[in-house]
Amino acid sequence: MTNQNRSQWNLCRFIKTLAYFEVIPLFSWIEKLFSGNSREIETQSKGETKNMGVILVAGATGGVGKRVVAKLVGQGYHVRCLVRDIEKARNILSEAVDLVVGDITKPETLNHLVMANIQAVICCTAVRVQPVEGDTKDREKYYQGVKFYQPEIVGDTPENVEYQGVKNLVTAAAKYLPSASEKVIFDFTQTSAELKNIWGALDDVVMGGVSASSFQLGEKSALFSGNVSTANSGGFASVRTKNFVPVINLSGFTGVKLRVKGDGQRYKIFLRTESTWDGVGYSYSFDTVVDNWIDVTIPFADLTPVFRAKTVKDSPPIDASKVCSLQLMLSKFEYDGALNPKFAPGSFALEIESIKAVGGKNLPQFVLVSSAGVTRPGRPGINLDEEPPAVRLNDQLGGILTWKLQGEESLRNSGIPYTIIRPCALTETAGGKELIFEQGDNIKGKISRDDVAEICIQVLKQSQACNLTLEVKEGENIAHSSNWQQLFSALQPDK
Ligand SMILES: NC(=O)c1ccc[n+]([C@@H]2O[C@H](COP(=O)([O-])OP(=O)(O)OC[C@H]3O[C@@H](n4cnc5c(N)ncnc54)[C@H](OP(=O)(O)O)[C@@H]3O)[C@@H](O)[C@H]2O)c1
Repeated sequence: MTNQNRSQWNLCRFIKTLAYFEVIPLFSWIEKLFSGNSREIETQSKGETKNMGVILVAGATGGVGKRVVAKLVGQGYHVRCLVRDIEKARNILSEAVDLVVGDITKPETLNHLVMANIQAVICCTAVRVQPVEGDTKDREKYYQGVKFYQPEIVGDTPENVEYQGVKNLVTAAAKYLPSASEKVIFDFTQTSAELKNIWGALDDVVMGGVSASSFQLGEKSALFSGNVSTANSGGFASVRTKNFVPVINLSGFTGVKLRVKGDGQRYKIFLRTESTWDGVGYSYSFDTVVDNWIDVTIPFADLTPVFRAKTVKDSPPIDASKVCSLQLMLSKFEYDGALNPKFAPGSFALEIESIKAVGGKNLPQFVLVSSAGVTRPGRPGINLDEEPPAVRLNDQLGGILTWKLQGEESLRNSGIPYTIIRPCALTETAGGKELIFEQGDNIKGKISRDDVAEICIQVLKQSQACNLTLEVKEGENIAHSSNWQQLFSALQPDK
């Protein structure tokens, strides 16, 4: 090619492009983005767990609730506690948690301040039960759980707390909990300063071409647009993110989804797992529809490993646990020299609303601590003399178990992925005994509040604990280690 038939190549743009994509470690923002939007609990390469997202604990000042909070904090979760009395809460709970004032019987208090960015809810609330003879300041008679004291309800009724209150909390949470199977990577419908310095143009100028593109953030979307030219043997325009630091872990998802409005041309998206400038990219071509918003779902399994527009036959499938950059491209070429059948040189425009990971596993998002015995009052064949006090005295206690069952039902019917834990009599003894899980509501026994708190947290990581109800008591033996997956795999989801 002579100088005459070459279009004016722009050295300055070439240098600017390279400078922009110098590997700059400024992507801690993406961690934040994920902590705000993700319900995923990511296992780091060192084997330690780092837990993201806000977990809302209701009943945080109670016997089980305060232990749930302490364990969540110890395991690195971001915890928000719904409390009625903030001074009381300050005395009981770690300074590391956010306290929000609310009352589950007053739905107007379960507002945005309580619910914003929640990833899961653990509900340990309870109507107040105490011995008729009265209790100590620290409720020692109630808490010990083994010796019988004639009980009574004080304060609000079981109907209000155990049913209506739980239902209010479920209803409010349902509006805020993110879709369990999706994770937002980029949401361009909400502008943020952080988004501005992430995407940059990467056009064929790097190979001597003269195509030029840009990535602009609008109010409700981002716009990848420009002019693509085939002059100087060029023919592509693209925008690429700088390398994510840390990388994004999308294992557990099956692919990504774009929401785009294009101009009828065929575009490509690349996902990269190497931070090198010029490595293998995993590519997928998608057609746009002129002036129409469409969702494009890209299964990881359908990505083609590509190096400089040539397919790499012996490349392994993408390792979705370490996605380090994304790229959108309009190119004259498909792969291995084939032409893009929908390509036209000149101006182009692709609007993007969002990029999400999709196909994630369902994990429980609402954990409700209920009680063994809730289905026993009035059940044929029940010998009340052999039943725990709450079953025997259900009527005298304002139908406590009956209303608890109604609270459970409101969660089952909500559509939120849930786990309902029904412990036997709660004690203040140390945890760590072997756990006996059952279903069908037949067991009697006792269990440490410590262990119930641990179960509440473990279920957040167990997809097998989704949408099921379990009873639990402790066994005689010390548990040397709990195989949580095995414990949950033996259980059946609710019908
Ligand atoms: N005791 C047992 O043997 C036994 C057996 C099986 C199951 N259970 C169940 O296990 C769960 C935990 O029991 P626990 O002994 O830890 O209960 P707890 O110590 O009595 O704690 C109850 C918590 O609920 C809160 N709460 C009550 N009404 C509320 C409302 N309207 N709005 C917001 N928060 C409210 C209380 O807050 P305040 O601090 O403001 O009062 C407290 O934090 C309960 O569901 C209980 O029924 C207990």
